[in-house]
Amino acid sequence: MSDPVAHLRGIDDLGADGIREILSLSDHFLEVSSRRIPKVPALRGRTVAWLFYEDSTRTRLSFETAAKRLSADTMNFSVSSSSVKKGESLRDTVETISAMGVDAIVVRHRSAGVPWMLPRWTDAAIVNAGDGWHEHPTQALLDCYTITRRLGSLQGKRIAIIGDIKHSRVARSNVKAFVALGAEVVLVAPPTLLPPSLEGWPVEVATDLDDIIGGVEVVYLLRMQLERQQESLVPSLREYTMRFGLTADRAARLGPDTLIMHPGPMNRGVEIAGDVPDLPNAVITDQVSNGVVVRMAVLYRLLGSGVALPALVAEEAPDA
Ligand code: ASP
Ligand code: CP
Repeated sequence: MSDPVAHLRGIDDLGADGIREILSLSDHFLEVSSRRIPKVPALRGRTVAWLFYEDSTRTRLSFETAAKRLSADTMNFSVSSSSVKKGESLRDTVETISAMGVDAIVVRHRSAGVPWMLPRWTDAAIVNAGDGWHEHPTQALLDCYTITRRLGSLQGKRIAIIGDIKHSRVARSNVKAFVALGAEVVLVAPPTLLPPSLEGWPVEVATDLDDIIGGVEVVYLLRMQLERQQESLVPSLREYTMRFGLTADRAARLGPDTLIMHPGPMNRGVEIAGDVPDLPNAVITDQVSNGVVVRMAVLYRLLGSGVALPALVAEEAPDA
């Protein structure tokens, strides 16, 4: 194993080798997760805290499941029932949690850059669970793992990311991770839903989904993130669906092995037609299941130094 990384704030904290290491560790945790008792003592005595200033279903629950399967203790924090409501600052909140003794803080915040600020106030390892429009690295890792399991690798694969790229932290992390593993990425969106500048993005851009749909191995759909849009960026959702939605018609034109992916939550009937997530080549629920094992790998990588992989093979004894 290469030197442990201190934090996972963005894909650049890992680089291509770090991503590959997480994917190969995930295979071990996939095996653990298939056991009758899917639990190992790898992080016994370690404490992980959740600091979610934005809503979440998948990321939060899968991190919680991952931590429990590794036998870590967890500290739950809910902004809506905390002293943040009384005006407590981010800094004071982090210092307070830290004073109780935590080894890792998993943070989601509406402001880009928050995960990079936290190490000023705590010695805990920081994991970014989504910062504004900026990054969502564990989503990218679980997507790389899902593609690798289905297609063997990302090398040379052509991946279309479709929709509201401008407001998507998933797109930013996924482009970095997909390209690091050798994929070609094409962004498909109306100009109003692209970032103002794509300088430094190693991607192609297309504005007509029908032009590219027959020639890609993965179609990755994004939700229209209306909560982040300050103005109307498409004439209407109906027109958006007609031009950029994965309708049943378009799904029928995909190659038989072309994967259909979505980070969730989906808005069925907008970016994806109602029945398309149930097609055999749609791997949206695989993404969710893989999220647990990949997040086990991330927590183990950050907190498990000194715990050798063979220790993972030891099955947790059932409680007497
Ligand atoms: N759940 C993902 C995120 O938090 C994608 C989305 O919300 O559309 O970025
Ligand atoms: N994909 C994702 O981050 O989902 P949640 O917002 O439900 O966590």
